[in-house]
Amino acid sequence: MKGIILHGGHGTRLRPLTHTGPKQLLPIANKPMSEYCIESIRETGITDIAIIIGGLGSNKVKEYYGNGEKFGINITYIEQDEPKGIAHAINLCKNFINNEKFLVFLGDNIIQRSISDFVENFQKSNFDATLLLCEVDNPSSFGIADVENKKITKITEKPKKPKSNLAVTGIYLLTPKIFSIIENLKPSWRNELEITDALDILLNQNDNLSFEIITDYWKDTGTPHDIIHANGEIIKNIPEYFYGKKHENSKISGKVLSGKNSVIDQNVTIQGPVIIGENCKINSGVIIGPNTSIGNNSIINQGNIENSIIMENCEIDSISKIRDSIISNNSKIIQSDKSTDEKIFLLGEGTKIYL
Ligand code: TTP
Repeated sequence: MKGIILHGGHGTRLRPLTHTGPKQLLPIANKPMSEYCIESIRETGITDIAIIIGGLGSNKVKEYYGNGEKFGINITYIEQDEPKGIAHAINLCKNFINNEKFLVFLGDNIIQRSISDFVENFQKSNFDATLLLCEVDNPSSFGIADVENKKITKITEKPKKPKSNLAVTGIYLLTPKIFSIIENLKPSWRNELEITDALDILLNQNDNLSFEIITDYWKDTGTPHDIIHANGEIIKNIPEYFYGKKHENSKISGKVLSGKNSVIDQNVTIQGPVIIGENCKINSGVIIGPNTSIGNNSIINQGNIENSIIMENCEIDSISKIRDSIISNNSKIIQSDKSTDEKIFLLGEGTKIYL
């Protein structure tokens, strides 16, 4: 089998973070989110992977993943000229897939479970597709599968009156039958070729779709809130390590991970889950956590940071509490006034804020 990772898209809900690169390279627990997809696919034994790229972030994706060798896979890059939909992106891979069964993974989907058993079952089966479904609280925001008597009866994109709360996750097991359906698909109201429409047609053709329900953590990280949530969940799942130095008078509780050469000064309080990258400096009096990551080479001079992602090469010197925030690479928050009100930030790369 072969694999496809979707690494294009508009990323509008994550602006301005997506003005300088694709959302799938935004870090979750200090690692690009699409790297979790690659690890998940590689674990199934699939090593031939096409990555769909498009727009201004394409070069960053190629730079990071190269030919895939460092990640134990072979990568073929396929350009999508414009984000014309998930089904459009899949159809660009027709020649790459040739006549095999294949796995599609949306590069912004995070799943805390191995998918090897699903892939193995699909490989042995005669199904036209296997979908992974997951219960959600807000079904109107997802592609939803109606299920009756253990069979999918209908698949609808963002239904206004959902009959079920089973979202179709962004991990699809497919056969080349999907290509001829996509070729005849009409764009939706948002002018995209929708994978949910293609799957619904496939279902109506042969009634030969199977599904699995995931009960482990799954997240489609389309919004800042989703990314911050996934960040905390992923940190919780990483095996413990601590390569930095901590002062004996620092208070550390819960799971706190630190990379090489990071220094935690005295009177620092850190409540896990927290991940600190390499070469970071956390100065005296700083409070961090829970659910927070600090990227490589960042300095926290003053601050109380909770439920947030601080990326690489950042400097924070703030007496206001920072919560629920994403601060991109090379940003600085320097506070000179004395107000201690809480602040919420969504900062694109290279931002400088002087409070
Ligand atoms: P979405 O999150 O549905 O769309 P988007 O990335 O355009 O974001 P937004 O809605 O905030 O504007 O896309 C799901 C996944 O599929 C995501 O990983 C991006 C990818 N994708 C493509 O690769 N090509 C496309 O044409 C589209 C629409 C999405």
